[in-house]
Amino acid sequence: MNLIKPHDRISLAEKIGRPSVALVVDDFYNRVQTHPTLAKPFSIVAHWQEHKQRITEFWWIALGGKPTASYSYDPVSKHFLAGFNQTLLSDWKALFFEVTHTHLSPELASAWQQRVEMIGENLLRQNDKLLGDRGRPST
Ligand code: HEM
Repeated sequence: MNLIKPHDRISLAEKIGRPSVALVVDDFYNRVQTHPTLAKPFSIVAHWQEHKQRITEFWWIALGGKPTASYSYDPVSKHFLAGFNQTLLSDWKALFFEVTHTHLSPELASAWQQRVEMIGENLLRQNDKLLGDRGRPST
């Protein structure tokens, strides 16, 4: 019998490859900067090259790759301060979907998008907790 041991499994990060992860991140944040609703919250980013590098590493790890740098992240409070909400999240996901489908096969793009959905739901839940009894905004 030909059993695949857990450590032999190829991660989604490796299937996509580091250069393509970086390409998706680069193209996504270039489009963000002129996007009708996302450009404004993202105007707080001062150093785009540094932001792209941090996010490339974030996705590399989130997609199962081995760490290549030692960044620390604090996405929940950073997103809260940037005015994160459900509408912006939908716009973010739609744009991300467009970009992954521009650069990757439909299979790899959908697999990555599934991780986006999970992380997005989690960010929304944590953001709602921070909003506390002010509740989820209606926008
Ligand atoms: C599933 C969707 C999203 C994911 C996976 C994601 C991921 C991330 C990550 C990992 C960071 C870096 C955080 C850190 O350095 O600690 C970040 C930063 C940021 N995100 Fe998101 N994000 C998402 C959606 C959004 C949305 C909808 C907005 C709109 C408000 C947004 C606005 C920002 C901004 C402005 C920053 C920079 C914050 C700063 O450097 O102070 N993100 N995001």
